[in-house]
Amino acid sequence: MSSDGVNSTRRKFLTAATSAVGAAGVVGVAVPFVGSWNPSAKAKAAGAPVKFDFSKLEPGQMTVVEWRGKPVYVVNRTAAQLEALPGLNAQLKDPDSENAAQQPPYITGIDRSIKPDLLVVVGLCTHLGCAPKYIPEVGVANLGGASWVGGFFCPCHGSKFDMSGRVYEGVPASANLLVPPYSFEDDKVVVIGVNPEGV
Ligand code: FES
Repeated sequence: MSSDGVNSTRRKFLTAATSAVGAAGVVGVAVPFVGSWNPSAKAKAAGAPVKFDFSKLEPGQMTVVEWRGKPVYVVNRTAAQLEALPGLNAQLKDPDSENAAQQPPYITGIDRSIKPDLLVVVGLCTHLGCAPKYIPEVGVANLGGASWVGGFFCPCHGSKFDMSGRVYEGVPASANLLVPPYSFEDDKVVVIGVNPEGV
């Protein structure tokens, strides 16, 4: 652990992840750093939860948090992104996330989240595990043109997911992006790896 409390492995991971997202044109330039509580590498490998202060995420902005060696995408969804979700249902393989393996039981509804604006998903494509890119821009020509209202695109074989991580029809991935167990410490800090109390 370095003097500023940031694990160098994590730094490299986040730098790489941020670069990949930046190449996709993520909204905003400042990527908030993972919160103040960083478990040791050994604890992380053992599955320790990770906390992240999401209060500085701008609307539409995504950051990547490492949990159990996996990238977890945390997105502060805009009102427009949320409003677009119902209109996409007919284009999706599992719009109501009926596959129970895709999320914990307390994640319900098409927003697939506890707080509607905050999306938390594992950033690994459910086809063969590449990292989908966050592409918030609407109307991207090679992603469906006018019908693209923002979401995630996997560059490996072209799978597409909406702003809830729901997979589109006609792509290789068959399941929605996985929602990890998570809860909130307060109104600013999400705890990835811990279910809400009483669940
Ligand atoms: S790994 Fe994402 S489409 Fe194949």
